[in-house]
Amino acid sequence: MRKQIVAGNWKMNTLLKDGMELAKAVEKMEKDKHSEAIVIIAPPFTHLSKIKELIESVKLGAQNCSSEPSGAFTGEVSPGMLRSAGVEYVIIGHSERRSYFSEGNEVLNKKVKLALSTGLKPIYCCGEVLGERESGQLYDVVRSQLEIGLKDLTLSDMADVVIAYEPVWAIGTGKVATPDQAQEMHSFIRGLLGGMFNAEVARNTSILYGGSCKPSNAAELFAGKDVDGGLIGGASLKADDFIAIVNAI
Ligand code: 13P
Repeated sequence: MRKQIVAGNWKMNTLLKDGMELAKAVEKMEKDKHSEAIVIIAPPFTHLSKIKELIESVKLGAQNCSSEPSGAFTGEVSPGMLRSAGVEYVIIGHSERRSYFSEGNEVLNKKVKLALSTGLKPIYCCGEVLGERESGQLYDVVRSQLEIGLKDLTLSDMADVVIAYEPVWAIGTGKVATPDQAQEMHSFIRGLLGGMFNAEVARNTSILYGGSCKPSNAAELFAGKDVDGGLIGGASLKADDFIAIVNAI
C-alpha cells in the first residue's frame, strides 16, 4: 500500500536558531501523536545536520541537490553530502527551481537518478502555470515533466520516488486548487505512471498535492482518492498549522 506523507518545504526561511526551534516543536507534536503518515521537514541546507540531531519521528529532507556527484561546482551540494548529513528525502524540480534557476526536465532527470543511486528518496515536483491550465495544455506539460524527469528509472527505483503535484498558480498565492482539480490531475498522473512503468508502480507511488494547503482546506484536498498527502510551503513554518495539516490526513 502506498504511504501517506506530509512534507514541509521551508524554502529560504528561518535562521538557524528559529529553524531548530521549529523542528523541535514539530518533532514534539509528532512524537506525542504518532501519526500514520510519514512527516518530513525540508529546512535550508545550513540547518540540516543540526536539525538531524533534534528529530527522530520526523524525517529529514533537503530542498534541492546537485546533478553532479562531486568536483568543481562552486555553491552546489551533492546528494552524497546530503546523505552524510542524515538526509533521507530530497525535493527535486520544485517550480521555483524550474522558473528562477532555469532547471529543465533533463537536468532534473539527472538529479533524480543521482539522488536515487546515492540512497536519497526524491520528491519530484510537477505542475502547470496558469496560462498552461487556461489554454488546456496542463496535461501535456505534466506529462512531459514526468516522462523526461523520470526517464530510465527502474521499477525498483520507483519504490523510492514520491511525486508532488504543485499547480504553480496555487503556490504562495492563497489560490488553492479545488479538491476536484487536484484529484483529476492526481488520477491523470497515476494513469501516466501505469503506462510508463506498470500498474503496481501506479498503485504504490505516493502523489502529494502542494499549493496554498492550510489547516482549513487540507482535509478536503486529502479526501481525493489519489491524493496521498501534501507538500506544504507557508503553513509548514508554524508548527501548529503544520501538525494540523498532518492531522487532516
Ligand atoms: P505554499 O504552501 O506556500 O503555497 O507553497 C507550496 C509549495 O511550494 C511547497 O513546495
